[in-house]
Amino acid sequence: MTSGGSARGATTTARRSAPCGLRRLRRFPRPSQRFKPVGRVLELACGTGIWSEQLLLSASHLTALDGPPEMLTINAAARLQQSARARYIHADIFAWRREEQFDVVFFGFWLSHVPLERFTAFWQLVGSCLAPDGRVFFVDSCHEQTSTAVDHRLPEAEATVLRRRLNDGPEFQIYKVFYDPRELTERLHKLGWHFDIRQTEHYFLYGTGH
Ligand SMILES: C[S@@+](CC[C@H](N)C(=O)[O-])C[C@H]1O[C@@H](n2cnc3c(N)ncnc32)[C@H](O)[C@@H]1O
Repeated sequence: MTSGGSARGATTTARRSAPCGLRRLRRFPRPSQRFKPVGRVLELACGTGIWSEQLLLSASHLTALDGPPEMLTINAAARLQQSARARYIHADIFAWRREEQFDVVFFGFWLSHVPLERFTAFWQLVGSCLAPDGRVFFVDSCHEQTSTAVDHRLPEAEATVLRRRLNDGPEFQIYKVFYDPRELTERLHKLGWHFDIRQTEHYFLYGTGH
């Protein structure tokens, strides 16, 4: 996924992975309510906006970024077009540089798609986006067989490539890293972050940090 970091790559990626998270959202234990994403919130890889809607419940302003324009169009049209507190950026995350700072940076089902060789640069970007005392919140998926479609086979936890087949037939390989909460916490700690990362019984990995 996003191996070239190009807009075309992002578009293709989005087509492959857009439905992720949606069907499982209702089962999420709503840590976002405890986290309270207030102030200026940046959402990276917002997709069609299932999290954007939640973030706008408490954010004073939401900046939502995604690669393919169609993602932002769906996001805006479906949920947030009415909100003067939301704005959208169409950009490749790996090439984008922030022009302002945010109180909260959020990303849902995105970190697992960041190639390992871009892990450090991605977290540097996140850090550069944060205002003093800014916080990060992320949600992702665990290595859980029932988290994927019934006709999809989940690879080993150590694998970084996942196959996804679209409803209309074509099959793609996407970049996907399944993180262990403790290892991810340590890895981020080495980069200067302090994270509390947890896993739900099924499906979700989530972390809050600064
Ligand atoms: C797995 S989806 C998650 C979407 C949303 N956060 C959610 O939870 O439903 C990943 C998202 O990352 C976006 N994306 C992939 N590569 C990107 C890139 N290089 N720059 C910006 N967005 C990208 C895709 O368009 C897609 O919306």
